[in-house]
Order: sequence, then structure tokens, then C-alpha cells
Amino acid sequence: MTKRLKVGIIGAGGIARGAHIPGYLKLSDQVEVVAVADVVRRNAEDCATSFGIPNVYDRYEDMLAAGGLDAVSICTPNKFHAAAAIAAMEAGCHVLCEKPPGITPEEAEAMAATAQKHERLLTYGFHYRYAVEVETLKRFIRAGELGDIYMSRVTAVRRRGIPSWGVFTNKELQGGGALIDIGVHMLDAALYLMDYPEPEQVLARTYQKLGSRPGVGLGGQWDWENFSVEDTAVGMITFKNGASLMLETAFAANVEQDKQMQVSLMGDQGGADVFPLKIYQEKHETLLDVTPAYLKAGKPREAEIAAFVRGCLGGETPASTPREGILLQRIVDALYRSAETGEAIRL
Ligand SMILES: NC(=O)c1ccc[n+]([C@@H]2O[C@H](COP(=O)([O-])OP(=O)(O)OC[C@H]3O[C@@H](n4cnc5c(N)ncnc54)[C@H](O)[C@@H]3O)[C@@H](O)[C@H]2O)c1
Repeated sequence: MTKRLKVGIIGAGGIARGAHIPGYLKLSDQVEVVAVADVVRRNAEDCATSFGIPNVYDRYEDMLAAGGLDAVSICTPNKFHAAAAIAAMEAGCHVLCEKPPGITPEEAEAMAATAQKHERLLTYGFHYRYAVEVETLKRFIRAGELGDIYMSRVTAVRRRGIPSWGVFTNKELQGGGALIDIGVHMLDAALYLMDYPEPEQVLARTYQKLGSRPGVGLGGQWDWENFSVEDTAVGMITFKNGASLMLETAFAANVEQDKQMQVSLMGDQGGADVFPLKIYQEKHETLLDVTPAYLKAGKPREAEIAAFVRGCLGGETPASTPREGILLQRIVDALYRSAETGEAIRL
């Protein structure tokens, strides 16, 4: 058998156990998960026992120093992404880092610079890029079906979806709330479909209306007493190419639907809603709604892991690039600064 990629996991919580490790195990002819590190040693031990991972560490620095790893998945809270990614790349590993890249643009820039310096693959866990709707629409866009995309709308809104687990409501560890956690998924998908234009200016407002009081939680009662993030964010982003994007995201809002994850694009030749995929055009003096008759539902998280593994083994580079990570993090940071200052922020 040819040599298998040796992978280590940093952070043994929900996303590592629910997506990364199962994704690697599906590819056991090409990959083996050989080590797991978590500051809470019991988490690393439980995870190792559940998945048969031979080596356990409570410090990722020790895991990297032990050597023998080709790649790592970074699945810690956002605050630790950059330091772990940089240490891993300096130790010679390729990196799949969970989204968002980090908390600040400087972190994303340092991660990208390290990847370049050490010639390592660095990619991010924006798995919606691998959703069949996004992949399909990207082909239509490449073929010119939407023409010049000049406007877009991004929605990531839950009716009552404030996380009652993990550290998602802790600003210090995550950098923010709905925007940096769920908003970034739809924002990244929209920007990817728009070919990641350079941002020019942002204007935003954030709100903490429902999170800091007890209430109905579809995932149980969240820690409302220590809720230090925004539950809602709205923003407008303009781009140097003239395009614009409206964003709305909430962990909790008084709306009808339990959950809306949507990207809408408007171009001069056509428009589209992505989830589910529908394309709107005008042809032969007729307004058309184009709906795919059949889309093979994929498993975006598995596809993301498979793309990373392919990239590590010398194949095509995964879709999410370090440059895009920097642009996304600059936009998120500017949105938060705009909300804080009340001013539009020029980038
Ligand atoms: N792609 C997605 O849809 C998706 C979904 C959920 C979470 N995430 C991302 O994954 C990351 C982790 O989220 P989660 O839900 O797994 O959280 P979690 O709280 O379930 O797990 C995080 C784990 O990291 C450990 N940890 C904390 N600091 C560490 C450090 N310095 N070194 C090693 N381990 C450390 C914690 O002890 C914990 O076990 C976050 O960045 C989050 O944004 C992505």
C-alpha cells in the first residue's frame, strides 16, 4: 500500500467528532488519523477511544513536536485558530482550519504568510462551497448565465438558535456571535459565487436583544447571563468593482421560519436563489424561472475533507484559499467596527 497521509486533530469537540474525523475515516485508504490534542485531556481521550486514534496530547505543541504528521485539522474555538495553524505549518503540516480563519484580519494575514513561506496548503472549513447548489450555480455563472453580478443578498437567520453548547456566545473566545459563526458561511458562499471581489466600504449594525435574557431555545436554554456577543447583525458591503451585498444574520430573531440560510444573486443576465437553486432570466421576451429537475444531494462536509486530502496528496488545491480568508476576515472585522463606531468603514 502507498503511504497514507498522517493527520492530527487539534480540538476534539463537536466539529472534529461530527465532521473532520468521520470524513478522514471514510478515506482510510489514503489517510490515517494518528493523533488528537485538546487542552481538556479528557476530551482528547474520549475522542481517541471513540475513533481508535492512537496518540493523545493535551498540548498541540507536543503533538507537533512529536513529528510524523503530514496534516492537521484545527477545530478549536476561533481564538486559537491562528496560533495553532501557524505552529502546524511551521512544523511542516498542511492545514485545514475550521471557519472563520481567526478573529482578526492580521491573524488571517499571518496564516497566509506562513503558508506561503513554508509552502504548505492552508484552507478553511467553508463547507457550503461544496453544496451541490453552489457547485452547480458556479458552473452556470462561469458560463455567463447571470452576466455581471452587481447585487447580492445573504441571509443566515435562526428563529431561536442561540447555541446552548460550546463557546459560541463568548466574545473573547469566538470574536463575535451570529456574524462570525453562521453569517460567515453564507457570506463566503456569496463572495465565492461573485469571484471574491475586493471590498470597498461596509456599514453595519449589531444587536443584543434576545440573547442576554432567558427565553425559548430550540437547542435548550443558552447561558444568557454570560452572553457577550451580538445575536443579530445587519450590514451592507460595497466592492471596488461596483457590486454590493446586503447581509442579515441572527442566532435568534422574531421571524416565521426556524432557519433561513440563503444567498441571492442578481446579475444583468439572470438572478438566482441558491437554497434551493432557482435561476431567474428573461429570454425570447419571456420571464423564466429555471429549476434543476434533479440535483444529486452530496455531503458538503465530507467533500470538503476529501478536497483537503486530495490537495495534500498533490492534487487540485481546495476551493477556499488563504487570500479569500483574508478578504473575508477584513470584511467581518470592518462590519464589527462599523457597528461599534456607528460609521461606515472604508477598506
Ligand atoms: N463548519 C461548520 O459548520 C462548523 C460547525 C461547528 C463549529 N465550527 C467551528 O469549529 C470550531 C470548533 O467548534 P466546535 O463546535 O467543535 O466547538 P467545541 O466547543 O465542541 O470543541 C472545541 C474543542 O477545542 C478544545 N480546545 C479549546 N482550546 C484549545 C486549544 N488551545 N488547543 C486544543 N484544543 C482546544 C476544547 O476543549 C473543545 O474540546 C470553531 O471555530 C467553530 O467556528 C464549524
